[in-house]
Amino acid sequence: MFDQLNPMPADPILGLLNEYRQDTNPNKVDLGVGVYKDPAGHTPILECVKTAEQYRLSTENTKVYIGPTGSADFNTLITELCFDNEHPALLANRIRTVSTPGGTGALRVAADFITRCKKDAVIWVSDPTWANHTGLFEAAGITVKTYPYYDYDTKSLKFEEMIACLEQVSADDVVLLHACCHNPSGMDLTQEQWDIVAELAKTKGFTPLIDMAYQGFGTDEDTDAYGVRKMAATVENMILCSSCSKNFGLYRERIGSCSIISSSAAKADTAFSVLLYVVRCLYSMPPAHGAAIVETILGSAELKQQWLDELKHMRDRINGNRKLLVDALHGLNVDLDFSFITEQKGMFSFLGVNPQQVEQLKNEYSVYMVGSSRISIAGITETNVDYLAQSIAKVL
Ligand code: LMR
Repeated sequence: MFDQLNPMPADPILGLLNEYRQDTNPNKVDLGVGVYKDPAGHTPILECVKTAEQYRLSTENTKVYIGPTGSADFNTLITELCFDNEHPALLANRIRTVSTPGGTGALRVAADFITRCKKDAVIWVSDPTWANHTGLFEAAGITVKTYPYYDYDTKSLKFEEMIACLEQVSADDVVLLHACCHNPSGMDLTQEQWDIVAELAKTKGFTPLIDMAYQGFGTDEDTDAYGVRKMAATVENMILCSSCSKNFGLYRERIGSCSIISSSAAKADTAFSVLLYVVRCLYSMPPAHGAAIVETILGSAELKQQWLDELKHMRDRINGNRKLLVDALHGLNVDLDFSFITEQKGMFSFLGVNPQQVEQLKNEYSVYMVGSSRISIAGITETNVDYLAQSIAKVL
């Protein structure tokens, strides 16, 4: 039976990790996978996480099954972080949340939930979107279509085309939106644009699925959730998938959440029962460790403040890196204007070089980025920025 298998191509993002690790060039630069790095190129464990882990180690007294929903305390606290504890949908008891194995787990739970709502469902994703969105939804049997989003030439949003496309979307369809720090373009909707999209979702009746993988990496944890909160205050039905990988630095612990918002508390109970069934069939129940860390942090005023400070530190460093790269490139008098990079938000931007130049940067200069020329800004350091800018200038 296995003889019928054909090898799958390497994952466009994770495949780079192996190549980078095997590269022996001492000047190699990793702008591939979206992980935060400090000025030494290391991905540290947050101090608040260390403290919470020590607390967990000394107080944990069982390893018994946690159940498909995961930790109730985590679910409450993460819902309040995403939506705000005064949100009308929360006060009306219309939100149900489960802990999931990372943001990707949340998306897969959402995908299976959607197919329970409608067989042959269609989801619209931005062009471009995170490389894994398409495979993930197709694996669940959902048809993936795209709406215009990023203009590679003008480095801006195609907002009018996006709206014109979403005007045509069927009321039975799902539309995936990135809450903030759009992956891969770094171009976010403004608050005014979110207002327009939320009104459109309400009038057209499509179901928004918002993917929030970078809350706190854009402007701050509340501003980054503007679209989520606005949408949830406007429409009757919505799905939110969130991740604690980046903002809590918990990548390998795999902790995220999937929230379903329904039109009434009773309908939310029904949706929740479906959600539990979906989780039970997919992986039975989520891992507990990451959730325990997050709930310890969010449940303590002192640790939460420490986390917000550490989050700000990561955000400021990434924004600083944007300027560092642009200054270094402009200092080399390259013909292209890269200032758009400083105007974008979050972990990523498109450098704007072609696929051959991406290959050349990898093969000749050991500079690693996704084939679309998406760069993970966190991989830039004061030490590697000159080498990086010179390598880019050479391939241009
Ligand atoms: C990325 O886009 O680099 C991250 O979300 C990591 C991943 O799983 O792809």
